[in-house]
Amino acid sequence: MSAENPNVDIMTMEEAAAELARLAREIAHHDALYHGKDAPEISDADYDALKRLNDAIETRFPELVREDSPSRRVGAAPSVTFSPVVHARPMLSLDNTFSDEDVSDFVASVYRFLGHLPDDSIAFTAEPKIDGLSMSLRYENGRLVSAATRGDGTTGENVTANVRTIAEIPDRLPTGVPEVVEVRGEIYMAKSDFLALNRQMEAEGKQTYVNPRNTAAGSLRQLDAKVTASRKLRFFAYAWGEMSAMPSDTQFGMVQKFREWGFPVNPLMKRLHSVADILAHYHEIGLERPELDYDIDGVVYKVDRLDLQQRLGFRSRSPRWATAHKFPAEQAFTTVEAIDIQVGRTGALTPVARLTPVTVGGVVVTNATLHNADYIEGIGNSGERIRPEGHDIRIGDTVVVQRAGDVIPQVLDVVLEKRAEDAAAYEFPKKCPVCGSHAVRERNEKTGKLDSVTRCTGGFVCRAQATEHLKHFVSRNAFDIEGLGSKQIDFFFESEDPALQIRTAPDIFTLKARQESSLAKLENIDGFGKVSVRKLFEAIDKRRDIALHRFIYALGIRHVGETTAKLLARSYGTYDAFAVAMKEAAPLAGEAWNELNAVEGIGEIVARSIVEFYKEPRNIEVVDRLLGEVRPEAAEQPMTTASPVAGKTVVFTGSLEKMTRDEAKAGAERLGAKVSGSVSKKTDIVVAGPGAGSKLDKAREFDIRIMDEDEWLAFIAEA
Ligand code: IVH
Repeated sequence: MSAENPNVDIMTMEEAAAELARLAREIAHHDALYHGKDAPEISDADYDALKRLNDAIETRFPELVREDSPSRRVGAAPSVTFSPVVHARPMLSLDNTFSDEDVSDFVASVYRFLGHLPDDSIAFTAEPKIDGLSMSLRYENGRLVSAATRGDGTTGENVTANVRTIAEIPDRLPTGVPEVVEVRGEIYMAKSDFLALNRQMEAEGKQTYVNPRNTAAGSLRQLDAKVTASRKLRFFAYAWGEMSAMPSDTQFGMVQKFREWGFPVNPLMKRLHSVADILAHYHEIGLERPELDYDIDGVVYKVDRLDLQQRLGFRSRSPRWATAHKFPAEQAFTTVEAIDIQVGRTGALTPVARLTPVTVGGVVVTNATLHNADYIEGIGNSGERIRPEGHDIRIGDTVVVQRAGDVIPQVLDVVLEKRAEDAAAYEFPKKCPVCGSHAVRERNEKTGKLDSVTRCTGGFVCRAQATEHLKHFVSRNAFDIEGLGSKQIDFFFESEDPALQIRTAPDIFTLKARQESSLAKLENIDGFGKVSVRKLFEAIDKRRDIALHRFIYALGIRHVGETTAKLLARSYGTYDAFAVAMKEAAPLAGEAWNELNAVEGIGEIVARSIVEFYKEPRNIEVVDRLLGEVRPEAAEQPMTTASPVAGKTVVFTGSLEKMTRDEAKAGAERLGAKVSGSVSKKTDIVVAGPGAGSKLDKAREFDIRIMDEDEWLAFIAEA
């Protein structure tokens, strides 16, 4: 994704509307990954660029601002595992600034808004922007009563039990504090603790974590508070929500109070007046950044006086009295020594640039992803030229690499002046480098365009696909088998001894029995001892009963990620019901096919991919063998069973006036209903608003219970 799109000025209204629709979808997708799954796909800088592009188009075409515009939302809707907490005061976001000039503009806008105040008379606080998770801690009569994540800003998740295990967060406040106190701040994991945790994971043969922020988020979202307790999480207090009395009248004073009450506060916070001083502090913090034991991604400026904050107030999603001055993504020059091709689970050939090691922001970078053949050529997903001049990347090139936050380093640009005269354009392989099968780019049936991904056609024959498949199968969100990491999978896969071989997933579960009747004992092999072998077999046996969604996810069906697997598990309830339906859906028509497409959140591409999987006899054979070893549990019915809609299938159609469609859906699901996008004989209730059309007709035809929005609200109020 290129940074600011220069074409906004010449966009037609139609193009702008289409682009806004695309951005709403794309940003919502990244929000969900970031907030819901703690697994970002793009860098913060690229994310910010998408938001800026959205803002730029909306500024030029204010009449096109969408109901679901990213500028109206803060973060993502809360995920389902924890009970919801409605924040007494919304948890807002901050506007971002990127340049010294933006900061002067911010300060000037504060002066302009307040009017008639002498230069440099307004104090601002400046403090690091911690890259963690925001948290709202509510104390009543000095006792911690609830801890909630930000969620979508209005409603967060109740993570009180987990937060109580964090030593840095006081359970009780000193006497004399106001009756209601909501302290807000950032939960984070120290870099040193993160590195230690990863060393431990590696030693245990487990998958390592990506970065401290996601690890902190994952640690907090544990259903078992003991796990949270085992991860040293920390906290900085910097803001507040509801307060029954204010202990200070400045931002600085409030934070000092928090410190007195026992909360950790950031030592780098300063109170400053002039733009020059503010910027100097920003650059100082920037210099200290690599030495800090926590990740920061900018500096936050806030108007110090609370009465002025009050007057300045809020825009729709962020305060006028504060801004976040982001650090630029870190960059460095290096050379491309080689381009290697990695073959993934689905056969995708991913080129990786091997770089001369270079330090980017305190981290040594040796690889950068090159995504696909087009990317190497300088062509983006929509056929546009990427990188400032659209240069291709060649072996031997001097390149600019960027490492932003969490994401894998990227090659930003090529320094053409330094290119050797005889450097040849990179030729993307036409054969899989692992198994030698043809590698092809599929054509999208609908658009006729070539897919950007080149795929190995070797399937099960390809060693890379097979081992990647196994690694996926045992990964944390799938079967999560402790002691069976990447190295071990490679070892078992390569083994020629039938008593040690693991070629497909069911082999994992027969390993112990094969070992028992063989002389080739695992415990005698380097790297495995008696204890670790026993533990490995215990870990394998522990997974013979497995949650349905994990089982479906582990099958490694293309396009079926964790979220889709959960949707499928919830919709079909049992593995048998699911498998039967998928086989029935084979003709891509008929009741079973329609049902699959009606699962909210499942589109045609995903549906096709699942059906294709079940058409392949080899897949069926492997799954059948697997089912001889493990038992997928029936999916849990969500939340209450007492609710009148629990287990019922509900369809919303027409326009809703009292709530958004998303809200209606979330509400119904919280009560245990299944929300579907289309009406079938299995639908129990259709909630029809004004303008309802064919779905309402169908509901009448099938004699399904129909309600209007008010009736629905009254109906669920009984819950
Ligand atoms: S102040 C009304 N101060 O940044 C604004 N936020 O982009 C309240 N953050 O959701 C937030 N360090 O999670 C503030 N020193 C700091 C911060 C900080 C990190 C996060 C916070 C917030 C996000 C906004």
